[in-house]
Amino acid sequence: MSRSADGWDPGEYERLAGVAVAAVARFVAESQAGDVPVGSPPPLPELIDTLRLRSLIREGGLDEESFEPWLGDMLAHSVRLHHPGQIAHQVGATDVPAAVADLVQGVINQPMSIYEMGPAAHAMERVVIEWMSEKLGLPDGAGGVLTHGGSLANLTVLLAARAAAAPDAWVEGVDGTLAVLAPPSTHYSVTRSVAMLGLGERAVVDLEVDDYERIVPGALGEALERCHAAGRRPMALVAAACATSTGLHDDLEAIGAFCREHDIWFHVDAAHGATALLSPHHRHLLRGIEHADSAIWDAHKMMRTSTLAAAVLLRDGRRLEAAFRQKAAYLIYEDSDETGPSLLERQVECTKAALGTRIFMNVAFRGEDGIGRYVAESYEKTLRFWELIEGRPGFHCLSRPESNILCFRYGQDADLQVRLREQLLREQRFHLSSTEVNGERWLRMTVTAPATSEETVAGLLDAIEELAAGAGR
Ligand SMILES: Cc1ncc(COP(=O)(O)O)c(C=O)c1O
Repeated sequence: MSRSADGWDPGEYERLAGVAVAAVARFVAESQAGDVPVGSPPPLPELIDTLRLRSLIREGGLDEESFEPWLGDMLAHSVRLHHPGQIAHQVGATDVPAAVADLVQGVINQPMSIYEMGPAAHAMERVVIEWMSEKLGLPDGAGGVLTHGGSLANLTVLLAARAAAAPDAWVEGVDGTLAVLAPPSTHYSVTRSVAMLGLGERAVVDLEVDDYERIVPGALGEALERCHAAGRRPMALVAAACATSTGLHDDLEAIGAFCREHDIWFHVDAAHGATALLSPHHRHLLRGIEHADSAIWDAHKMMRTSTLAAAVLLRDGRRLEAAFRQKAAYLIYEDSDETGPSLLERQVECTKAALGTRIFMNVAFRGEDGIGRYVAESYEKTLRFWELIEGRPGFHCLSRPESNILCFRYGQDADLQVRLREQLLREQRFHLSSTEVNGERWLRMTVTAPATSEETVAGLLDAIEELAAGAGR
C-alpha cells in the first residue's frame, strides 16, 4: 500500500533501513574482499530496463517485499569504490562515520544554511571551517564556507577574487580587462568558472608548464607581461596541490612569493591534496599554502566523506561576503559578522545539505592522525606501485608519484592505452582511468581503496601484458 499520504511510520523506516544497511554492509564487505568482479556498466538503455526504472517511476510498485531484490540489482550496477581493482577516480572510498552522518541527515534533513534551520549541523560547518583554516596555516580572520563540491568551491573563490579586483562587477558587469593566470592543466572547473563569471574563456592567461604539467615559477614574469600586453590585469593566479591528471604539486612557495611581490590573489586548488596536511610525512608537499589568499579542499576525496563536501577557505573571510553582497564590499571591514546566523552571504546555494556533519564525523571518529595515516598509506602504496611498474619491461611511468595518483603506460601507442583500459573494464577486472599529459595519452590510477595492494597491481600488469599480447596476435 502506498504510504505517501500517511505520516512517518517508524516501523517502516526501521524495516527498510534495516534491509538497506544490511545490503550495503554486504556490498562493501564483498567489494573490499575483491570476491566479486569490479563491475562494468551495461549500455544505459539496458540498465534502465533491468532496474525497471521507467515503469517504477510511472506506476510505482516498490514495496517492502520487492525492495530487497531491487536494491540488490541496484547495487550490482553501482561502482564498488572499496574494491581493490577500483583504481579509476578520485572520489573517496567512504568511511563509516561519514556514511552514518548521511543516514541521519537523510531523515532529519537539516537545511542548515541558516542557523535556526539546522543548529547542530550549522555549528559543525563553522567548526569544520575553523579547523581546516588552522590546518592550512591561515591567520586569524580566515574564514570560508562548505559547498557541494570543488567545482562550486572554485567558482565561489573566483567570485570573491573578482569582487576584490572589480568591486563594481556585481552591479555593472565586467569590462574585459580582468584575467586569471592558470596552467592549461588546471581543473576544468577553473576555466569554466571564468566563463561563468562573464570574463570569457579568453581571460585565462596560460602559465608555462614543464614536462609534468607543473607551473614553471621562473616563467611567471613572462606570463604577467603577456597578460598586461593583452590589456588585462590579473584577478587571480591558480596553482594546484595536486593536479588532477598527474597528482603532482606546483611549487606553492615560489608561486606564492611571486603573487605577493606582484599583489596578485593567490589561489591554491587543493581539492585533492589538502588532506595530506594531516600526514606529518606529507604535509611538506603543500608548503607555501599558508601564503594563499584562498584554497579549496574536497573532503569527499582523501577525507573519505560521501559526495559532496568541499571547503572554500579564504585568508580574509570577509572577502567572501563581499563576493555576494557587492555593496558591502565598501563596508566589509565594518559590516562582517563571522558569528552571524547565516551562511547565505558566502555561498551560491540557498538550502544546503549538512556537509559539515560528514566531515566532522570522520574527523571526530578517526582523529586527524587516523585520516593522516590513511593518506600516508595511500601515498606510500602508490610509491611502491610506481617501483613495481617501472621494474616491468614495457611499462613506463610519467614520474615518481607525489600522491595516490599515478600515470603509466604500456608501450608508446596512444590508442593501445585506450583499448587496454576499455578491455580491462569490459572484463570487469580493473577500473582504471586515462588522461592526457602534454598531449600524450596515459593510463591513470587513483589509489583510494584500502584493499588495493601490490598483488592487485601485479595482477593488473599481468592482465595488461596478456591483453597487449592478444591485441598483437
Ligand atoms: C584539482 C581539482 N579541482 C577541482 C575538482 C572538482 O571537484 P568536484 O568534482 O568536487 O566538483 C577536482 C575534481 O576532480 C580536482 O581534482
